[in-house]
Amino acid sequence: MVFNSLGSNYTFSFAMKALFGGGNKADQIKLEKYLADRYSGKVTLLYKGREAIALALKVLNFSKGSCVAINGYTCYAVYQPIAEAGLKTEYLDIAENSLHFSARELSAAVENNPSIKAVIIQNTLGYACDIEGISEVCRQRNVFLIEDLAHSVGAVYKNGREAGSFGDFVILSFSQDKIIDAVSGGALIVRNKKYMDVPLPVLSSVNLKHRLKDRFYPNFTYKIRKEYAIGLGKLQHKFLKALGWLSQPMGTSEKIVLRKLPAWQCRLALGCFMDLDKNIAHRKSIAQTYQNNLGPNIAKVYSADKIVLSTNLRFPILVKNREGLISYLKNYGIHISDIWYDAPVAPAKYTDKSSYNHDCPKAENVSREMLNLPTHINVSQKQAEGICYLINTWFR
Ligand SMILES: Cc1ncc(COP(=O)(O)O)c(C=O)c1O
Repeated sequence: MVFNSLGSNYTFSFAMKALFGGGNKADQIKLEKYLADRYSGKVTLLYKGREAIALALKVLNFSKGSCVAINGYTCYAVYQPIAEAGLKTEYLDIAENSLHFSARELSAAVENNPSIKAVIIQNTLGYACDIEGISEVCRQRNVFLIEDLAHSVGAVYKNGREAGSFGDFVILSFSQDKIIDAVSGGALIVRNKKYMDVPLPVLSSVNLKHRLKDRFYPNFTYKIRKEYAIGLGKLQHKFLKALGWLSQPMGTSEKIVLRKLPAWQCRLALGCFMDLDKNIAHRKSIAQTYQNNLGPNIAKVYSADKIVLSTNLRFPILVKNREGLISYLKNYGIHISDIWYDAPVAPAKYTDKSSYNHDCPKAENVSREMLNLPTHINVSQKQAEGICYLINTWFR
């Protein structure tokens, strides 16, 4: 059984640490110090990546009606904090053969819309964006650069600098299925010296319901995955989902509140940073397997020659009859219906809740055909080769 999500990053030992592991102030301080050194800035740990974006916008304190530019192929969680801050969103379409806008799209947007005060880049699926060009436009036009590393902790830009070394602000997400996965979590790193002394609001505590759900999520999903083949896992999944006991990464009903990251999750996140190189090396070799073994009629334009520098969070391919391939693979125990991204502001069911209005035709085309192949630690080299074999057979 292979899943794109559903506790993709967890081992049995991780599940035990999540359920029973402790944490204290020292863990929080250690994680803060680690991030402060790694990203050269002032760190605030939060419960979600979207809270980190909200806090960055609070610190920047733009006047109402100001605009934040984002990738026009993104997650609702990037849009939400902008809207809730009372700011407008400018969607920048992706560049040719890329999952991200380039300096060209940003430059044109800033020219047309002087109310753009900040831009969020996101290195989608770990593939580095055109950071040098983008940061040059930001510098010339006095636009703040926010580097969102939700997909790309550990990625390297073309010029050899690590992701997170350009922005005025860096955003991290430690949420489920990300490169650093503590079930939930996030951080803001203020790198721009002028903003380091801005007083920060008091953070609230995460409520008991969320804390319990996060504690149990790795266990539940580990068990579901193990018992899926014999039918029990599917039943458990349905049952736990219906009861609302599975921690969910998305949701539009909850407004953003700035919350402290619980200490036990600080400890888990720090552990993930310690394993980061190993994790990325695994993802890289699985991505290489897909790149080398998938037939030439399968579009893999986004990965060609980019794998080496990427975190390869997921391996993107383009498939016209996507639903057909998803159900074919399901028959063989490969569950990859969870797609990043199936819409310009994803998931598709939330697009209408955003201000997106067909601003990004290229992203719309890509989102219709996008499919992600898993690269996480629970996919072996052999399984990746098997997935290639199945996909090639289906295409024939
Ligand atoms: C690019 C990007 N940034 C930020 C987030 C938000 O992360 P979180 O779920 O921790 O709020 C997501 C969510 O998946 C994302 O895809």
